[in-house]
Amino acid sequence: MKGAIFFSTRYGSTAQYADWVAQETGLPTHDIRSTRALPMDYDFLILMSPIIYYKLDFRRWLRRHRVEIMSKPAVLVTVSGAPPGGKLDAWLDDCVAPEMRAHMEHIALGGRQDPAALGWYDRMMLLIAARRNRDKQAAREEREGFDHMDKASIAPLVDRIRALQAQDLRVSRERAGGRPMPARKPALAH
Ligand SMILES: Cc1cc2nc3c(=O)[nH]c(=O)nc-3n(C[C@H](O)[C@H](O)[C@H](O)COP(=O)(O)O)c2cc1C
Repeated sequence: MKGAIFFSTRYGSTAQYADWVAQETGLPTHDIRSTRALPMDYDFLILMSPIIYYKLDFRRWLRRHRVEIMSKPAVLVTVSGAPPGGKLDAWLDDCVAPEMRAHMEHIALGGRQDPAALGWYDRMMLLIAARRNRDKQAAREEREGFDHMDKASIAPLVDRIRALQAQDLRVSRERAGGRPMPARKPALAH
């Protein structure tokens, strides 16, 4: 099957992960803020977004393309300061409808936050958040930044993509409950 990566990024780390995954799998990458490509042009989707202020950065884009996303295999990849677990799951539950959440597999990757690279508004907001945060480790990271970027951590995602690439489109549609597609006829000679 033919897939693509659609991603959003604020400070570049999600774009970096998207490039790493593209190098390993040959998938095209599309930044949702500038691309003209559409999810409906592909058989499966890798959807990558950072978590910004407890929300998925591309949640509105996700809602806009809900119908196409629900009609094909999709993997949601988050990039965040928080590790996989209850906090991250609750943020996703808050901004993705339950049926869509159930439809997409989720893979969580560690991000990067460099205080020197932040705009002044984000820097201020993160300092305020750090003062309020009861989780000491998270508060320190909001204040001082962090770098959890790890190229090796994309391995499970790359494996999943290779499995999807090897999958037959007809079988996938039948499994998804769509109408079985007729077997392809041999091309006629002109
Ligand atoms: C303004 C801002 C808000 C953030 N809010 C959160 C958050 O609520 N939870 C979290 O786990 N990480 C948060 N982060 C960390 C980002 O998810 C992390 O830095 C990620 O790598 C950013 O991706 P990007 O470089 O592609 O924009 C925030 C980072 C920034 C800059």
